[in-house]
Amino acid sequence: MHTFTKKADLRKKLNLVRASGKSIGLVPTMGNLHLGHIELVKMARAKSDHVVCTIFINPLQFGPSENLEAYPRTLEDDQEKLIAEGCDSLYAPSVAEIYGPNLNNQTLIHVPGLSENFCGRNRPGHFDGVATIVSKLLNIVQPDSAYFGLKDYQQFLIIQKLAHDLSHDVEIVGVEAQREESGLALSSRNNYLSSKQRENASLIFQCLLETAEKVKDGGPNFSILEKAAKDRLIDAEIEPEYFSICNAENLQLATELDRHIVILVAAQVGQTRLIDNIRFELNP
Ligand code: PAJ
Repeated sequence: MHTFTKKADLRKKLNLVRASGKSIGLVPTMGNLHLGHIELVKMARAKSDHVVCTIFINPLQFGPSENLEAYPRTLEDDQEKLIAEGCDSLYAPSVAEIYGPNLNNQTLIHVPGLSENFCGRNRPGHFDGVATIVSKLLNIVQPDSAYFGLKDYQQFLIIQKLAHDLSHDVEIVGVEAQREESGLALSSRNNYLSSKQRENASLIFQCLLETAEKVKDGGPNFSILEKAAKDRLIDAEIEPEYFSICNAENLQLATELDRHIVILVAAQVGQTRLIDNIRFELNP
């Protein structure tokens, strides 16, 4: 695996790859890789001839109150993990390489309709930062396919829409959330949890599973189910930010007519904010 820091060098390499008729799969990350990220690399490996992973801690998607400096930087460990998975190219640029000298003068991409609610509500500008960097990476790498985790389902829908709306010629592939045995979705943030909090946090997925079953059984109306799940989390000292039963295509609150459902949750366990979701179909 070769690590590139300059887009001109990466482009030169990828032009050769493309000229030899090989397909390119892209896995964008912010590093500190865990088995969730690795699953994306495995999927890209299985579906493409040349796998490009990117590690870039994107300042544009961090709010002023979010600690960008504290984000874990583990490049050497990450490189080893990527080599073990057969990744071909790693792109790990600096902030100046991506945004030039003036981050505040960057053209931004806003994906309307999907960005404002849920994780967008308490993190203003966050999804514009995500959409902007992903669009830039798609332009730099020009992959045939790009791989994103369905754990971050709102992010996934936003990326799918931006790729479509900006006519990026790429297949956006969603990869199922990887979980601990307890059901807790893998996340770099789990490292901040004490062992007691980690055990406790598995209730988040439990509540998703149980609420999904009740929706499928045609149980009480959605707002009653949402409130019951939130109360259950609060009883376990988990502070829900939202727990919402939605239409899985447009993230509007679901009605009895919707068939393709996602339940989205964000919750605070101690100082750590976790997100998760579950998706399912209702019988017509
Ligand atoms: P990051 O948090 O590093 O995640 C990189 C990718 O890994 C995302 O597509 C995310 O959904 C996926 N991922 C994280 N945890 C996962 C899990 N438990 N199972 C499956 N996939 C998982 O998300 C970002 O970075 C950034 O916003 C990025 C898209 C790279 C743009 O900067």
